Amino acid sequence: MEKISLKELAFPLIKAIDSFNYLLKAHQRRTAVIAYHIGKKLGLNYGDMVELVVAAALHDIGALSVQERDSLIKEDVENPSPHCLMGYKMLSGFDMFADIAKIIRHHHIRYENREKYDEDIKFQSYIIHLADRVDICLSPDHFILNQKEKVRANILEKNGTVFHPDVCAAFEEVSKPDIFWIEINSLTMEQLFSRIGFISSIELTRLQIEQFALTISHIIDFRSRFTAGHSYTVGKLAGFIGRILGMDEDFCLKLTIAGYFHDIGKIGIDTQYIEKVGPLTDEEYNMVKLHCYYSGQILSELNSSEWFRDVVKWAQYHHERLSGNGYPFSISGEDIDAGTKIIAFSDMISALMEDRPYRTRLSIDVAFDIIDNYAADNIDPQMIKVIDRYKPEIQQIVDDCKKRAERTYDESVSYNMDCGIAE
Ligand SMILES: [Fe+2]
Ligand SMILES: [Fe+2]
Ligand SMILES: [Fe+2]
Repeated sequence: MEKISLKELAFPLIKAIDSFNYLLKAHQRRTAVIAYHIGKKLGLNYGDMVELVVAAALHDIGALSVQERDSLIKEDVENPSPHCLMGYKMLSGFDMFADIAKIIRHHHIRYENREKYDEDIKFQSYIIHLADRVDICLSPDHFILNQKEKVRANILEKNGTVFHPDVCAAFEEVSKPDIFWIEINSLTMEQLFSRIGFISSIELTRLQIEQFALTISHIIDFRSRFTAGHSYTVGKLAGFIGRILGMDEDFCLKLTIAGYFHDIGKIGIDTQYIEKVGPLTDEEYNMVKLHCYYSGQILSELNSSEWFRDVVKWAQYHHERLSGNGYPFSISGEDIDAGTKIIAFSDMISALMEDRPYRTRLSIDVAFDIIDNYAADNIDPQMIKVIDRYKPEIQQIVDDCKKRAERTYDESVSYNMDCGIAE
């Protein structure tokens, strides 16, 4: 397996997820630009600056999963709020982002309330809090330079109460020149990463690559308890099926990663369609169908690494069928390779064996009957015959994955209730 560094894996994905993000638009990128300027003014060292920019670029990631969403992002909330804690929980699953997760956990703490918290609050949390509020004060309907003085006054009047005095002082200085404001709109995530000179060539282990992919998959899966374990199950099943079909370990790891990533394109689809209870209209279904294409677009950022090319292909083809009746490429026959078939099969089994608001989970026998009838012309009858012999093992994997994912999901939710404030 070729070497893959944190820089090659994490940064391209953070950038792509930001640009496809339907819900937050460019809020996280803009917050990262503001935070970067403040951090630079404060003279943060290289390590602290990298943490600051990455944390800012991901700071509302938990809001993509919890039901606070728009209102929460617009109004300042007092920590701890579900989206901060959900973001913290999600990112702390990836050991290299442990400190970034801590920064995100506290990104809505008012300076005057800091003593109420048991935990240490990292300084970058205060920078992101102020940067976030600057972006929220800005209206997209008016030219940014015409809003400069009003926003400055609005933020600075909260010096020492809502915001940290040192962060306010740096903001006051750095926001004087127009260039600060111009760059909020214009600096790309890529330019920002290259400005901080991120050079991490730390090679990731196979486990870290898997951890990172799983962390990213929670963005989509944790939108509801019903789907909390969906991509996790698809990844684990795909790896297992690869093994019983005699694929080598490297191939099986790619299958697992493709399973974790396959639905990431749902980030680009309006959540009202994704989360609709009950059948979709034809028009809504047409929108939802775009998600495979978006998965391919987001993951194509990883194409510069040879190793990821199969992962990208299998994820974007996961709704293609042998008959040519799949979408969106309508490829057929031999154009559909083994990895694509394995992901497609694992996706179907996982979905059929999940509870839905309108039906309970189907048993493995019923799920296999449905797939036998449907998939003969669509997946690969030979392959399904082999898999059929491993029903007990598949049942075990599905049960384990769902149990584990639901537990993590429930912990994040109950953790939100028990907010960790010292009275
Ligand atoms: Fe937030
Ligand atoms: Fe925010
Ligand atoms: Fe799926």
